[in-house]
Amino acid sequence: MRRLLVALTATALTLAGTGVAAHAAPAPGGPGVGDSYFPDYGNSGYDVSHYDVRLRYTPATDLLTGTTTILATAEQDLSRFNLDFVLDVSSVLVNNRPATFARQGDHELVVTPARPVSDGGAMTIVVRYSGVPSTKVAAGFTAWIRTPDGAMAIGEPEIAWWWYPSNDHPTDKATFDVSISVPDGVEAISNGVMPRPPVRETLGYTRWSWRSLKPQAAYLTFMTVGQYDVTTDTTASGRPVYNAYSRLMTQELREAAQASVERTAEITDWETTLFGPYPFEARGGVVAPPDTLCCALENQTRPNYSTRFFTRGSNTSVVVHENAHQWFGDSVSVADWRHIWLNEGFATYAEWLWSERNDEGTAQEIFDYLYATSPPDAPIWTTAPADPGVAQLFGDAVYDRGAMTLHQLRLAVGDDDFFEILRAWAAEHRYGNATTEQFTGLAEKISGEDLGALFEAWLSTPSKPVVATTLARTA
Ligand code: ARG
Ligand code: ZN
Repeated sequence: MRRLLVALTATALTLAGTGVAAHAAPAPGGPGVGDSYFPDYGNSGYDVSHYDVRLRYTPATDLLTGTTTILATAEQDLSRFNLDFVLDVSSVLVNNRPATFARQGDHELVVTPARPVSDGGAMTIVVRYSGVPSTKVAAGFTAWIRTPDGAMAIGEPEIAWWWYPSNDHPTDKATFDVSISVPDGVEAISNGVMPRPPVRETLGYTRWSWRSLKPQAAYLTFMTVGQYDVTTDTTASGRPVYNAYSRLMTQELREAAQASVERTAEITDWETTLFGPYPFEARGGVVAPPDTLCCALENQTRPNYSTRFFTRGSNTSVVVHENAHQWFGDSVSVADWRHIWLNEGFATYAEWLWSERNDEGTAQEIFDYLYATSPPDAPIWTTAPADPGVAQLFGDAVYDRGAMTLHQLRLAVGDDDFFEILRAWAAEHRYGNATTEQFTGLAEKISGEDLGALFEAWLSTPSKPVVATTLARTA
């Protein structure tokens, strides 16, 4: 799903109406969308509206088999197109006719339909496949994680390749149905809502069904399989909450994790007062088995958490961070991975606001501490948040300096304009994609101020910005 498409289609129709439209020979789609950091991620030539991912997974062997059906629209006269995928494909159908397919590079599947698809034409793509995901190396690593009792597909920016074929770039969001059949007694969890309860199949397997009703980026779609204890609830507004805790945690970890993640509805309600309406149909969180997941990830409607966040007791900060991403990252997504501070700087600033709200230190105090304690040659200063590069994609400049930038913006425009900017940002680009330039433009529009020097110093300069007032304030 791409927003630009609406405008482009309107233009094409106008041209067609005036008889100007020319018929080009069908041409291949491209192997990437031209992302400045990951040029071969995603593909060009078509746009996906829905994925139906239907799988069977067996933890003992790590064998994943299944069929993914993709509903897409050609965006040009298309002779062939690529999908991003690493497992072993046995057949591909395009509009019910067998297509030929070949592997290219380490994560591309090139599909040639029996007949070209014309611009604007609907494509139903059916890919049957199997494989042992933990054995597949692409981009130099294996993102799929096996656990003592199952497996997880959780990662950013690449994870889809290991479990379903996709157009793997945040600019092509789609709705999802994910169903996973796993041995009886094991849970299979994914995003969104459960359209039906788990269904027992033959041979000792149970099928779990999940559905995402709003546009969702491929990397934000997750699956986790294992033994989990589940809590469910309904928010005041009637939306489902589904939390899951690995049974492999100690009781101490489990209590700290629950004391944090069980507060998801409260925390997202608080975030709603800052950022505007919660964008999605469900809420929740999943806490992985110990020593399996490195980090936390803002999977749409249901972030996943490493237990390492809970080893020193409860931690609501990480819950605030991952759920702030529901607005900033998941609903408003980057148009190019270069703009990652729009995700991480905003989610980090939400943590500062939560600290302020709980009398655990104001945003100003956190800013001052970081400003005073980060040495001048630290990556936070030598990296420009607006173009951090792949090596610093998740570095301090993106997280902490990104949040410091928002704090400087707040000081410059005042609280009323600042929170109006955040809400307008979430509203104007809801379910879409956006760039740093669009954000700085919006901030100037709402505040009526020239913020060029502020953003230049904080976002685009690889050195420590001078803040005249900080020393006076901390003295
Ligand atoms: N978006 C995740 C978060 O901030 C971080 C993912 C980190 N990924 C990584 N490869 N280091 O919650
Ligand atoms: Zn984050």
